[in-house]
Amino acid sequence: MRRGVGPITPELSDALADHMNIRRGEVHEVVSFYSFLQEPVDVVRVCTGPVCDCMGAKTVAGELAVACLGHCDLAPVVMDGDDVRGGVTHRTNGFLLEPDEPRDPPALEPDEVLTRLEDAGLTGMGGAGFPTHRKWYAVRGEPGPRVVIVNADEGEPGTIKDRYVMELRPHLLLEGLIAAMRFCEVDEAYVYLREEYATSRVRLREAIAERGLDVHVVVGAGSYVCGEESAMLESMEGRRGMPRLRPPFPAQKGYLGRPTLINNVETLVHVARILRGDWQPSRLWSVSGAVGEPGCFEAPLDVTARQLVAEHAGGFTADVGAFVPGGAASGILPPAALDVPLTRDALSEWGSGPGSAAVQIFPATYPVLRLLGETMRFFAEESCQKCTPCRIGNRALHHVVEELEHGRAAMSREKVDEWLEAMGQTSICGLGQASPIPVRNVARHWPELMEALR
Ligand SMILES: Cc1cc2nc3c(=O)[nH]c(=O)nc-3n(C[C@H](O)[C@H](O)[C@H](O)COP(=O)(O)O)c2cc1C
Ligand code: SF4
Repeated sequence: MRRGVGPITPELSDALADHMNIRRGEVHEVVSFYSFLQEPVDVVRVCTGPVCDCMGAKTVAGELAVACLGHCDLAPVVMDGDDVRGGVTHRTNGFLLEPDEPRDPPALEPDEVLTRLEDAGLTGMGGAGFPTHRKWYAVRGEPGPRVVIVNADEGEPGTIKDRYVMELRPHLLLEGLIAAMRFCEVDEAYVYLREEYATSRVRLREAIAERGLDVHVVVGAGSYVCGEESAMLESMEGRRGMPRLRPPFPAQKGYLGRPTLINNVETLVHVARILRGDWQPSRLWSVSGAVGEPGCFEAPLDVTARQLVAEHAGGFTADVGAFVPGGAASGILPPAALDVPLTRDALSEWGSGPGSAAVQIFPATYPVLRLLGETMRFFAEESCQKCTPCRIGNRALHHVVEELEHGRAAMSREKVDEWLEAMGQTSICGLGQASPIPVRNVARHWPELMEALR
């Protein structure tokens, strides 16, 4: 079910505080943090994420614009209440197309589970790429009661893979989740799901009911940073979604202070397949933008962007001007990198990374500075404002890029470099730490666009 009320007006917020016998400001600060709590439930939203922007979304957006609705394969996207205009279609392949039947994971001893995950070399698919077996080992090493949470927030622009999993293979996800729950010896678990995924919500809840599991679906309220695991914990505990300082890590002290295992949707699907013994190293690639058939495709870890587009996504529909290899925080690359394997090692030589595997292709007619400007605007708007370098830096850089678009310089090159360094080194979460990457990429691969800064 969608939330029943909205917007939460100041009167409603005060009434809530009085009812709960807490400070009125405490409720107000939470309400004002989440964009969807300030909107009517049946509002029409127009996505202005980079791919939708490239396809002209801003010409219809007006005041209805939202950061990214997670349906980049259908760009440009409009959402009317819970309905995605144009209807949800899937263009996909591989295990996503296999029948989705409820199945129990094999009951293996914990050590055997860890060995299988380690041997498979599975790393987290949420963006950070942390080895899965190490996280599982750490959580089990802490005294219970423990908690398991599935990260289904999927807010990174261009990323649609977890939605495909939840819509097409909810039982496979639950199979991986059951394995995680047994491993952590818990009877109850949570899925933190982004609000815009109405079809996922329905299918997931049906599958949970069919299995008779004690799994609670917690619905987010329109904040990208809540996908960051410690911000998610704050959000689930009823506060603003602001990342926590670490240590302690969620594995040690997570939801309600308990040791908590947090895994991305896709990670758990691979866990299920690895434990079944039928896994070949692969991941799900979201492909959108100037391609014939945008969608979500299973392909090897070392596939190139050109192979993905040619073999799965219907070929390029325009001359390529730039592409994003793995989501907004992964960087912006020139067409020369289309043949680079999309692995951590290969992409690091280009100053980039595979992130959440969201490949977005932009035509040569879409200016690179516009793409960079939209990316920085996204980071500036989604920063939780907890730390100064991220709060001020992203706004300043957005302004600098907008000025560059008009051939002007709002800052010297040295100052920009100083900001990038400070943001990367001193921000406390991945949003501020990674947001310099696209700026550095454009400065390196399109130096002529930054000339005005000198
Ligand atoms: C700003 C920000 C947003 C994030 N959003 C998501 C998200 O939507 N989904 C996700 O699984 N991980 C997201 N992450 C990564 C999580 O913090 C965490 O690493 C992940 O859920 C761990 O699961 P994994 O090891 O299975 O990948 C985000 C990180 C940052 C810094
Ligand atoms: S880096 Fe940005 S988003 Fe992350 S905690 Fe700091 S201000 Fe918040």
